Amino acid sequence: MPVSLPKQLHTERLMLRAPRPSDAAHLFAAYTQDPEVARYMTWRPHTLLSQTEGFIDYCLRGWAEDRSRAYLLVPHDHDDVPIGMLEARLQSHTIDIGYVLQRKYWGAGLMPEAMRAFSEVALSLPEYFRVQATCDVENAASARTLEKSGFVREGRLERHTIIPNLSPEPRASLMYARWQ
Ligand SMILES: CC(C)(COP(=O)(O)OP(=O)(O)OC[C@H]1O[C@@H](n2cnc3c(N)ncnc32)[C@H](O)[C@@H]1OP(=O)(O)O)[C@@H](O)C(=O)NCCC(=O)NCCS
Repeated sequence: MPVSLPKQLHTERLMLRAPRPSDAAHLFAAYTQDPEVARYMTWRPHTLLSQTEGFIDYCLRGWAEDRSRAYLLVPHDHDDVPIGMLEARLQSHTIDIGYVLQRKYWGAGLMPEAMRAFSEVALSLPEYFRVQATCDVENAASARTLEKSGFVREGRLERHTIIPNLSPEPRASLMYARWQ
């Protein structure tokens, strides 16, 4: 079934758009090599630009194969300079999201703005009933961001996700969702 999610979304301060190969260098400079940003993520900080290029390739394949929609967050006046990403992984009637923002933009409510806009559009479509996200139990900023974005905490999932920057063993996650 074709994916009816929009190719772009506009919020008050941001545009969410598809990645381009040329974005890799910007993302590498902005955050993929930042250990503070990567701390609670499922990847280790990148040490080589080629790792970020490989990730952008993976995102582009996700778009081409209708597996996922990785939207880059760009300011309206700097469409070529991404500052973060909201990745929507498509699972039948559910969309699982992941999100990350360059550190210097933290604390201004940008990610809740993007997550609210995305989940409202997704849940207005007839094929999606649920948008969900998990975060590590200690990632308080992420949990707060989900709450500010209208997500409800549904529970705690034990031994759920390996966060390689914290432990080689799977850690507990919190599950949040919005639904229609
Ligand atoms: C999580 C993240 C996307 C939030 O984006 P953001 O645009 O900065 O979100 P906000 O501006 O709403 O700020 C986060 C909220 O968490 C709160 N917060 C931040 N650190 C916190 C902490 N250690 N404990 C409790 N609350 C915290 C902030 O005070 C703010 O809430 P408030 O507006 O009520 O004061 C961003 O911090 C980030 O990219 N982190 C690294 C990547 C990551 O962890 N992604 C999520 C993986 S599940």
